[in-house]
Amino acid sequence: MSGGSAANLAVELAGVRFQNPVWVASGTFGYGDDFQTIFDVSRLGAVVTKTLFLGPRDGNPPPRIAEVGGGMLNSIGLANIGWEAFRERKAPWLRQHLPPAQLVVNVAGNTAEEYREVALRVDAARAEVGAAALELNISCPNVNEGGTNIGCDLRLTREVLREVRAVTSLPLLVKLSPNNADLVPFARLAEEEGADGVSLINTLYGMTVDLHSRRPFLGHGSGGLSGPSLLPVGVFWTYKVHQAVRIPIVGIGGIARAEDALQYLMAGARAVQVGTASFLNPFASLEVIDGIARFLDRHRMDLEELIGVAHERRPQNVPAAAAAV
Ligand SMILES: Cc1cc2nc3c(=O)[nH]c(=O)nc-3n(C[C@H](O)[C@H](O)[C@H](O)COP(=O)(O)O)c2cc1C
Repeated sequence: MSGGSAANLAVELAGVRFQNPVWVASGTFGYGDDFQTIFDVSRLGAVVTKTLFLGPRDGNPPPRIAEVGGGMLNSIGLANIGWEAFRERKAPWLRQHLPPAQLVVNVAGNTAEEYREVALRVDAARAEVGAAALELNISCPNVNEGGTNIGCDLRLTREVLREVRAVTSLPLLVKLSPNNADLVPFARLAEEEGADGVSLINTLYGMTVDLHSRRPFLGHGSGGLSGPSLLPVGVFWTYKVHQAVRIPIVGIGGIARAEDALQYLMAGARAVQVGTASFLNPFASLEVIDGIARFLDRHRMDLEELIGVAHERRPQNVPAAAAAV
């Protein structure tokens, strides 16, 4: 329930119960404790951690952020404190303040073996840190394969999934990269290899050139595009992937308001993640929760009736005014 609403927003996904379908996206909410003085994190469906590697990483040279039309570019380069520091310094606070919101631990590695090792460690500490699920960030270069982006290569994706699936029984979500002509083969592969769901989408490759220096603006050169311009891309892939696999979808990309999240749910996502919008408005995710509840109240609908409704052939014939949130 949310803000005096009668709507039941609880949703089951990958065998886990989430009190609502609104999560905060990896890399846009720190380790969950950054907003602690202003924000009640326990109201969220889940917090997804910044991507954690086995050890700390410094990331890319500055500048790492650029504002562009329709969103932003980032080239953070997966800077993170590493799994052990997260377990020691961040997890105790989350253990205390997060429930009933869930913790989804997002991990990555430089090689398939590193993915396996970090997944193994999260699995071993699952009760201690309160991990409900693992989200695999596969949008990472494989250092043994000349830096090929794992999430853009079916063979490398399969290799990582096999290594990880073999060492953990934690619900496993695979976060897909939109830097592919087709995401359906990646979603099918995730299902085949025993993933419990897919999260989509990560950022799109992008670049901005500085007219003064006449060079790429970001220190790394290129970056990842996020924000409002990703909304139709993420909704498209949610719709397509929903037609192709049975495992659940977590919709991500450009969600700033309840209307945006509702599109993903109607396209077939069982949950959504709010990313870049939290930078502009730290309360965006909470507002999305309240807006979904209002929509369900107004239309006397259950969340389950809404999920995937865009795939129904029967015309809806809802007057435009009534369709508003
Ligand atoms: C500054 C920044 C850092 C990010 N870091 C990560 C990360 O560490 N791991 C990851 O899986 N995704 C990361 N992302 C991608 C987001 O989780 C999300 O997939 C993407 O931004 C699209 O959603 P949005 O348009 O709502 O931001 C990052 C995005 C931004 C903007």
